[in-house]
Amino acid sequence: MQNLWYKNAIVYSLDVETFMDSDGDGVGDFPGLTQKLDYLAGLGITCLWLLPFYPSPNRDNGYDVMDYYGVDPRLGTLGDFVEFMHKARERGIRVIVDLVVNHTSIAHPWFQEARSDRNSKYRNYYVWSDNPPPADPKHIAFPDVEDSLWDYDDKAGAYYLHHFYKEQPDLNIANPAVREEICKIMGFWLELGVSGFRIDAAPFLIQGIGIPDAKPEDLEGFLIEMREFLVSRRADAILLAEANVDADQIGVYFGNGDKMQMLFSFLLNQHMFLALARQDAATLVEGLKILPDAHHTCQWLNFVRHHDELTLDRLQESEIQEIFQAFAPEENMQMWGRGVRRRLPPMLEGDRQRVELVYSLLLTLPGTPMLRYGEEIGMGDDLSLEGRGSVRTVMQWSSKANGGFSSAPADKLARPAIDTGEYGYQKLNVTSQQRDPNSILSWMERAIRTRKQYPEFGSGKWKIVATNEPSVFAHSSQQNGNTVIAIHNLSAQPRTITMKSAEDPHLLDVFSDRPYEQIDCHSNSIEISGYGYRWFQVN
Ligand code: NOJ
Repeated sequence: MQNLWYKNAIVYSLDVETFMDSDGDGVGDFPGLTQKLDYLAGLGITCLWLLPFYPSPNRDNGYDVMDYYGVDPRLGTLGDFVEFMHKARERGIRVIVDLVVNHTSIAHPWFQEARSDRNSKYRNYYVWSDNPPPADPKHIAFPDVEDSLWDYDDKAGAYYLHHFYKEQPDLNIANPAVREEICKIMGFWLELGVSGFRIDAAPFLIQGIGIPDAKPEDLEGFLIEMREFLVSRRADAILLAEANVDADQIGVYFGNGDKMQMLFSFLLNQHMFLALARQDAATLVEGLKILPDAHHTCQWLNFVRHHDELTLDRLQESEIQEIFQAFAPEENMQMWGRGVRRRLPPMLEGDRQRVELVYSLLLTLPGTPMLRYGEEIGMGDDLSLEGRGSVRTVMQWSSKANGGFSSAPADKLARPAIDTGEYGYQKLNVTSQQRDPNSILSWMERAIRTRKQYPEFGSGKWKIVATNEPSVFAHSSQQNGNTVIAIHNLSAQPRTITMKSAEDPHLLDVFSDRPYEQIDCHSNSIEISGYGYRWFQVN
């Protein structure tokens, strides 16, 4: 029997740097995070995804690693990491970590050796060319900063490949020695107790663009090798790939249940935002229907926002414009013509009812839900910060200076705290919300608690339920003889809906946006408020 714990996990992603600073130097750290584990356990979190915390020159928020076997000294020591892992385990919280191996930092000793000596064994760890082909602009990840996939290195006397910043040279995944290094890195962190890895930039890792003579089957096969290595060291560990790809490419990553156990649901996320903009359930249904069937051990990781821009690049240009118009009308709210650099509550103009609607969708849509730090208290963004920095401000714990994140002077913080307006820490923080039974935090705790009681939403067999209202999205999920149904009204108008089903199930309301008069109801007449949501247990 395989352990499918990830199918009903409640995942929470955070950057140690911006979560909690224990020593007053302005930078979050592992002891700070450890202090907050009881908070996370209380919220109902069962799995943390830690953004890169390895030594790094920090050109790309830690996604430029210079040592895969250590902890960035700004964030603590390896000893602090182990203490944190111990305390997380005591609370039943698993930890997955970022595996950033499409590229290293330019400061990594492998690259330093490779550029200095053509005969070094590290030369072939990277991809070189004397005469690189012109880049296809769609392969350039950061088009505002880079205009090429290749950069000339004087010391190396050659061009090297980089899909991201030029300070992030791509590793040569076709080289077996590089693959061995990657497995060794996984082995190290597994030995320290992690439950798996988020595979950064998975498509770039295996597409082999720029690698001479790369064979797609061979590169894709590396995903199987990784999985085999992973489970040989820890049977219940998982691989979660960041693969924002079209539906027909999803099989490359899930395989036949022998590659990645989890994928971020980029397609569903983009369709969800389009459905919200249009107030139309059919768009969400379409987002679910395009997903191919996957092996029963595979799972989607659903999210609302993460640490990057809200990317919309799988949609048509006109659809992207619809979302911009609804949720990011100003140019400064957009990124690269295909993304939104805002957090959810400001996108919805702080409309609490709609914010709840979105998180209710997150918790019930087929898959495992993931929250990003601060979402549970409805944190906002700071558009005066450059690029993706707008959504990376520090966690707001209290109304104390710097939101209680750090006792350092404000200008020493690794990233700023939001300190003005509706989203400023003076008004919006964990402490004040914990004292308020009507806060979004109290709502989130209750919603998560309820979600955990109905694992059918995560691992059941789901079906779309047709209704008579185009703005109401309804779906059911069934497992071990239990069935749950969730309905979501994407429009502002209250509705009374009829579910078109052969049976007339008896429904028990277990979670909803307000106390409805009918707690027990029948499928032919269900009330739902504007932007309302109701979860039912079928009896
Ligand atoms: C994806 C990460 O989410 C992003 O933050 C990073 O810049 C790139 N990968 C490069 O590692």
